[in-house]
Amino acid sequence: MLTTPEIIIDPPKTTLSQHGISLPETLQQHVRQVLIPETVLKRRVTELARLLANYYQPEAELVITPVLTGAFMFAADLGRTLATESSLNVHYALTKASTYGSSTVVGKLEERHVNIDLQPQDVAGRSMLLVDDILDHGFTLAALRDRLAAWGVESVLVCVLLDKQISNIEPQILAQRTKAAPDLVGFQIPDVWVAGYGLDMAGSLRHLPCIVSVSDGS
Ligand code: IMP
Ligand code: MG
Repeated sequence: MLTTPEIIIDPPKTTLSQHGISLPETLQQHVRQVLIPETVLKRRVTELARLLANYYQPEAELVITPVLTGAFMFAADLGRTLATESSLNVHYALTKASTYGSSTVVGKLEERHVNIDLQPQDVAGRSMLLVDDILDHGFTLAALRDRLAAWGVESVLVCVLLDKQISNIEPQILAQRTKAAPDLVGFQIPDVWVAGYGLDMAGSLRHLPCIVSVSDGS
């Protein structure tokens, strides 16, 4: 790992309205608290961009691959921060990963698949920075790492904004997460459903500039 994640355990309890943000009441009722305010996200994105600027050669070519949909805002902010923090030649190659399958229950893990929309020519011969919103069970990133290894992509860094600390982790989930192995992590967060800054609660709340914890992610 290139950096130690920032750990979010018990932040001061602030509400969206204290940050000047309004939502329809039907959504507002699901929001518990602001877990990571916009200012803290911005500061951490700058730290991550500086680490990347030091890691790559000046003026190197870098392909940022955001895993849509959740990573769109983080990956956009990371790219535009790299513009002021580095002299890298940054490209974007978007991919969309969707997980499907009957269950994540242990014993049925083999029924879960990840569908990845990325072609070998998008990444051939380039340094890649795979950017995802959150590491949960690790299916998405483990599958993407497998796909890129099969294509012979040599230089891949994986960056996730959030690393969810799953309680009572099963061995198979632990194995997936180990395989996903992010090189850069923004924040470690508790095992709660979060939304905002690209992440959704049933399709909503992606537009929030902060990360909130919500009572129901389904
Ligand atoms: P994984 O493949 O099991 O690691 O799941 C990762 C994906 O599930 C993420 O890229 C998110 O799209 C989604 N996800 C997991 N936890 C959350 C959450 O708390 N809020 C919103 N999306 C989540
Ligand atoms: Mg995702």
